[in-house]
Amino acid sequence: MQAIGTDPFTLGVASGDPLPDSVVLWTRLAPEPYRSGGGLPAEAFAVGWELAEDDGFQTLVAQGEVTASPEDNHTVHVEVAGLEAGRPYWYRFRADTWTSPPGRTRTAPPRDSRPARLRFGLASCQAYYHGYFTAFRHLADADLDAVVHLGDYLYEYAVNSKAGDRNYTDRVLPSVFNREAMTLDDYRLRYALYKSDPDLRAAHAAHPFIVTWDDHEVENNYAGPYDQTGSPPEQFLARRAAAYRAFWENMPLRERHRPVGPDMDLYRRLHFGTLAQLDLLDARQYRSDQAYGDGWKRPGPESADPARTMTGEAQERWLLDGWHASDALWNVLAQPVVFARRRDRGDAAYLVNMDAWDGYPASRERLLAGAQEAALDNLVVLGGDVHVHCALDIKRDFDDAASPVMAAELIVTSVSSDRDGADRLPLWDAMQAANPHLRFYNGRRGYVILDLDDQRARADFHTLPYVTAPGAPVTTAASFTIEAGQPGLRPLP
Ligand SMILES: [Fe+2]
Repeated sequence: MQAIGTDPFTLGVASGDPLPDSVVLWTRLAPEPYRSGGGLPAEAFAVGWELAEDDGFQTLVAQGEVTASPEDNHTVHVEVAGLEAGRPYWYRFRADTWTSPPGRTRTAPPRDSRPARLRFGLASCQAYYHGYFTAFRHLADADLDAVVHLGDYLYEYAVNSKAGDRNYTDRVLPSVFNREAMTLDDYRLRYALYKSDPDLRAAHAAHPFIVTWDDHEVENNYAGPYDQTGSPPEQFLARRAAAYRAFWENMPLRERHRPVGPDMDLYRRLHFGTLAQLDLLDARQYRSDQAYGDGWKRPGPESADPARTMTGEAQERWLLDGWHASDALWNVLAQPVVFARRRDRGDAAYLVNMDAWDGYPASRERLLAGAQEAALDNLVVLGGDVHVHCALDIKRDFDDAASPVMAAELIVTSVSSDRDGADRLPLWDAMQAANPHLRFYNGRRGYVILDLDDQRARADFHTLPYVTAPGAPVTTAASFTIEAGQPGLRPLP
């Protein structure tokens, strides 16, 4: 095996998908992350890892050695088992003479326990070229069980030499980033760029991540085998295979999620004792193509077709079965796009977003009916995509003002996408007037902290005054609670 001349741990470390007895540890060897192959020859390298009870690595609990192979772009995914439930651990890697920075992770609580409290950080939509990842710096400092990422971890779009609105003056990004990602090499390089961000690395090192994806991990508004430009499906599926492969390589995901060609099993369920069940949806791979050619359109027979699906039949059945079997107080559904109805205006000429659940109303209705049938009292839907914080009441029937509220939806704004933003946006003021169940929105960048206990859920919507320069302080734009057994958001003063 060749020596590694310079530090290969440039992209940091990560952990994810906590179980009561196991977590996944991740790193990648890339001494020159902005070059294809990361500056390593196309051969295998041994990577040692260790996991300790303390941040000084005095009491090791597990250790081992794995191979970083060129086929996986020298990424490693270590599934450590036999751990104690509900506690933090510290981990690090070694390669040749180099030691990685340490990471901290946390196992899930015992399966049959009722933990007193759970705290999740929510994040989505991090266009590198629109601003700094300051939200992750603040998330890194928060006391959390895990970060739940709701998609658009990266964007396929070109990043210019000064990183767009980051406006770098102290470095020049290479031209490999200045084109839309299409090939496996392109997507791998794009993850290297995003993961070289120090704030994102800090968040990964501080907390386990639980990720799902939206569209931009592959291509804007793709649906199953269809891209937005009408490419032949077999051509787009080759691109999807490249994007899925790079996603799996670069996320702290288990081996069982490793993609096969253009297919990757991503939807999954995590338990946090009996306090919370977290169901993560894949809302891209199995969905029907958007109705009426996508975009904001008038709903009609094409969008209302009951055969249309957001989840595919197997995933839908899996979710409904999982809700029926749930023993959790809180059922949290993590998925990428807006679930509740959202009309752009109050009069009869309204349009809806065909890419969100409004374009798949029969699919949404099957989930709401299933949640009702399962007598799911405390359903909280999480989403992202729109680059705006929102709190929405999910009504059983959005057309009936007297229809009961049956769940809450929390949409997290973007980490950086759409630049600095503003508290109020004219478009969203109109939407709020047209959709009374849209209880709150804020158009700045930021993140959400979701805090769950026996009595209530609490959501704190955190915002940043700017992201086009680094180092913004964080403030809280609004907080809501949901009392267990009484669906509906209550604003906190
Ligand atoms: Fe986005």
